[in-house]
Amino acid sequence: MKFSNQNLLEFLKTNFGVIGAISALPGELDFNYFFQSDKGKSYILKIANLQEQRQNLELQNALIAHLAEKNLGLEVSQVVKSIGGNEILEIEDEDSKTRFVRLLTWVEGRVYAKVNPHSPLLLERLGEMCGKLCQSLKDFDHPVAHRFMKWDPSQGEWIKPHLDRFSGQRKELVDYYYQLFENNAIPAFSSLRKSVNYNDANDYNVLVSLNVNDPHVPGVIDFGDVVYTHTINELAIALAYSIMGKSDPLEAAAHVVRGFNSSFKITEQELSVLFSLITTRVLISVVCSELNRAEHPENTYLQISDKPAWDLLIKLKEVSPDLAHMVFRSACDLEPCSLHLEFNSWVRESKGLVTFPISFGKNSLWLDLSVGSLEMGTMNHLHDPDLLDKRITELMLNAGVSVSIGRYNEARAFYTTDSFVSEGNDSLKWRTIHTGMDFFAKSGTEVYAACDGTIHSYANNEGDRDYGPTIILEHRVKKNFKFYTLYGHLSSDSLLSAEVGKVVKKGELIARLGNRSENGNWPPHLHFQVILNLLDKKGDFPGVAFADQRKIWISISPDPWLLLTGSPSEQNNKLTKKEIVEFRKKHVGKNLSISYQVPVKMVRGNGVFLFDDSGKRYLDTVNNVAHVGHEHPRVVAAGQQQMAVLNTNTRYLHDNLVKFVEALLETMPAELNVAYIVNSGSEANELALRLAKNFTSQKDMIVSEVGYHGNTNACVEISSYKFDGRGGKGAAPHVHVVPIPDVYRGLYQSSDPSAGTKYADHVSKAVENIQSLGRKPAAIIFEPVISCGGQIELPLNFLKEAYHHVRKAGGVCIADEVQTGCGRAGNSFWTFQQHNVVPDIVTIGKPIGNGHPLGVVVTTQAIADSFNNGMEYFNTFGGNPVSCAIGLEVLKVIKEEGLQENAKVVGQYLKGGLQNLMNEFLIIGDVRGPGLFIGFELVKNRETKEPATEQASYLANRMRDKGILMSTDGPFNNVLKIKPPMVFSRANSDFLIAAINSVLKEDFMKTFS
Ligand SMILES: Cc1ncc(COP(=O)(O)O)c(C=O)c1O
Repeated sequence: MKFSNQNLLEFLKTNFGVIGAISALPGELDFNYFFQSDKGKSYILKIANLQEQRQNLELQNALIAHLAEKNLGLEVSQVVKSIGGNEILEIEDEDSKTRFVRLLTWVEGRVYAKVNPHSPLLLERLGEMCGKLCQSLKDFDHPVAHRFMKWDPSQGEWIKPHLDRFSGQRKELVDYYYQLFENNAIPAFSSLRKSVNYNDANDYNVLVSLNVNDPHVPGVIDFGDVVYTHTINELAIALAYSIMGKSDPLEAAAHVVRGFNSSFKITEQELSVLFSLITTRVLISVVCSELNRAEHPENTYLQISDKPAWDLLIKLKEVSPDLAHMVFRSACDLEPCSLHLEFNSWVRESKGLVTFPISFGKNSLWLDLSVGSLEMGTMNHLHDPDLLDKRITELMLNAGVSVSIGRYNEARAFYTTDSFVSEGNDSLKWRTIHTGMDFFAKSGTEVYAACDGTIHSYANNEGDRDYGPTIILEHRVKKNFKFYTLYGHLSSDSLLSAEVGKVVKKGELIARLGNRSENGNWPPHLHFQVILNLLDKKGDFPGVAFADQRKIWISISPDPWLLLTGSPSEQNNKLTKKEIVEFRKKHVGKNLSISYQVPVKMVRGNGVFLFDDSGKRYLDTVNNVAHVGHEHPRVVAAGQQQMAVLNTNTRYLHDNLVKFVEALLETMPAELNVAYIVNSGSEANELALRLAKNFTSQKDMIVSEVGYHGNTNACVEISSYKFDGRGGKGAAPHVHVVPIPDVYRGLYQSSDPSAGTKYADHVSKAVENIQSLGRKPAAIIFEPVISCGGQIELPLNFLKEAYHHVRKAGGVCIADEVQTGCGRAGNSFWTFQQHNVVPDIVTIGKPIGNGHPLGVVVTTQAIADSFNNGMEYFNTFGGNPVSCAIGLEVLKVIKEEGLQENAKVVGQYLKGGLQNLMNEFLIIGDVRGPGLFIGFELVKNRETKEPATEQASYLANRMRDKGILMSTDGPFNNVLKIKPPMVFSRANSDFLIAAINSVLKEDFMKTFS
């Protein structure tokens, strides 16, 4: 240590008249100290390295003063003048060497590198801050800034002689990027704006506010690299560091560019060199690391960004610089592909120069292949090449056409498979947007050149779901303008006569459609795509794009219909999210919240997944209604088949009712042998209440605190979750609420072995209370796991003893299995069975119809007989043949696919994963629940169990970002519920646990752990 704290405190007192406490900060070459004055003000004391020249510090001070004067909202340390009025002082170190010293005010914040996550908004704010730097500095100048600075991308030529230090893959990389610098950046230099730049917005210099909820980017620290250079380098440097470590650097970069452009407009010339300046800065960084490694092998700080820098260089090698350019243009709201407008204008002039690549009769059929298409059936139909082929053929036959058209710019369901997946920065993403147009026709159909041109390239892109044989034609239609057309899914022999450079005429036969064995296993069709920039590809070009790059790819590949007919193609327009929300606000009852701050529009389900309208896939951990999996093909078929034949009421005889009730009763204890089929869980509970009241001639009900049983009048009356919640008016006189038997945070906890009995004693007291009023209980109603209460598992003996108390007083016992039934609990088909009780009435809802409105009440013969008192019980829809067909199929699927066992095994596995997380993260206070009916509770403090409600909501929202649907519940909304479709697998569980793990590490979640 070159300075003692004591000496420095003396120095500060003498020169600045401040007293306080000092501590050293980590630094590269300078010595930096954090100083807190006794008046509570914070400063940074900066002692320069021996080589530092005064004029450099003067430059920094002048620039800092200029930023303050411009006052554009940047927060930057201010230089403090000494008592003698100096900004730069001198101090002697222990070796009696004199160093320059400055005192600056301290700006609160964390360095960007330590912030997690780097959300799109944060990236945008980083860009915006850098833009403000440029905006502030555009009229600043200083003679010292006109200097050599090795970190300045524009001065990157100095690295050239050092490139030979690398070998192998690294050598290839550095050569590639250096060439890019020479070919793309240097020639453009004369057209770029210049200014004095801060020049060092790396991730250890950018400050982020301490607010973890909504972090801002107030400014930067360390002005040592200031230089006069091309203004755009400010952004290039910020990008070079902020996109390191990102799975999809281009996606991250777009946000930064957008933010920068919002505060400082980027010119088109600057955008055209941005990518190469980014990579040049990264190149300088790896060269410096290499030089430093040789010079100072002991100094790891100097090499801090080495590995991520190489990783970034490897990643960006896969990115076409032209594509990056278009992404940047798009982020600045410019037409991504600059040739697009040229193409449009040529199309207007091109009458007679273009023909259809396939001939079809007068009638055409536009197919709906969108994610939510109702024409194509379940996802199985879309993913199974035979079924897809059959379906399209059938649609064409029905319409009497020989050619049908698949739309351009359509988000498609069949691209949601792993063949089209890629890792985005927060979640997986799929290439779902179709950027060509399809013409479905018989294999062997002739394919013609759309206009005059030459064969640019051809290839057989073999592999399932690929293009198969493909030809790309080049059309040089003007001296300075050419475009390409791509013909995919051809027959293998189409390539035999293909020859690069061969001239073809408009309408000339160039190929024939391939069959499934040669065309990538698709129904025979031509994929026809217009391409304005081939991005150096040959014989292949992406025909589908990521939804977040839609604007870019449809700019590169314009609408083929426009080329062929001069008019845009027919789009399959659906309502936007905004339109739906607006409509709902006006015309649909408002007291239903819509999930998520940015709502999701779901258009398809399949197994454990839901798909939004862009084809983004979500792992569903919350919709237990889709019990055997979303849109289970067998259940769908059962409903569709019956629906096509008969659906009527139960006054007529039908086999389905018998088969369904028979199968359902097989799962029940023998005494529960009469069923009433209804249409929802609420209706089931409503009827259960009537049965109980009728049987006992009483109306007093015993219910759980925070219990929920449905939305009808009578159900709300027995739902403390509602009448004790917002808008509720408390319990009716005949409703008696007992404490929720929650052994985690309730009256009696898991440490108490007789907690179950003690909770049951409250039921006994409620019974006594009813009796003291001269009445008797009609019933007790409980879920075997209290779902809305926060996935509360009932303690041992509670249900048994509670039932005993109620029955002794003449009441009946209702088990609400609407959430928990049908094998979800794993160890038993009905969750009450895990408590060794047999209820008098069981109500069933959600899972039994797998999404179809179906509910059932099952009871004893005695209760049913007493209900048969002359008043008829008619239910128009309950028990109709379609519902029964569906219910029966659900029961069969549960059995035949072993879903109860799956719930047990995967449930245990998942719970184990959550328990491991609980060992690591203090914020998880409890993990509970049987089978696939799990909850985990977030707390700010494990002792006080203070609910971490905001963190639970944050976690659920972040999971959505990561493509996982999850929801919160419980009286404090701090319990994350996991009750997925029962086809949930170990792999799904691993995916879920990994995502929770990564979010738990984010700053917002770590505040309390
Ligand atoms: C335990 C329980 N019972 C009954 C119901 C009511 O079912 P439905 O919404 O189908 O009417 C629900 C609904 O969430 C529930 O969770």
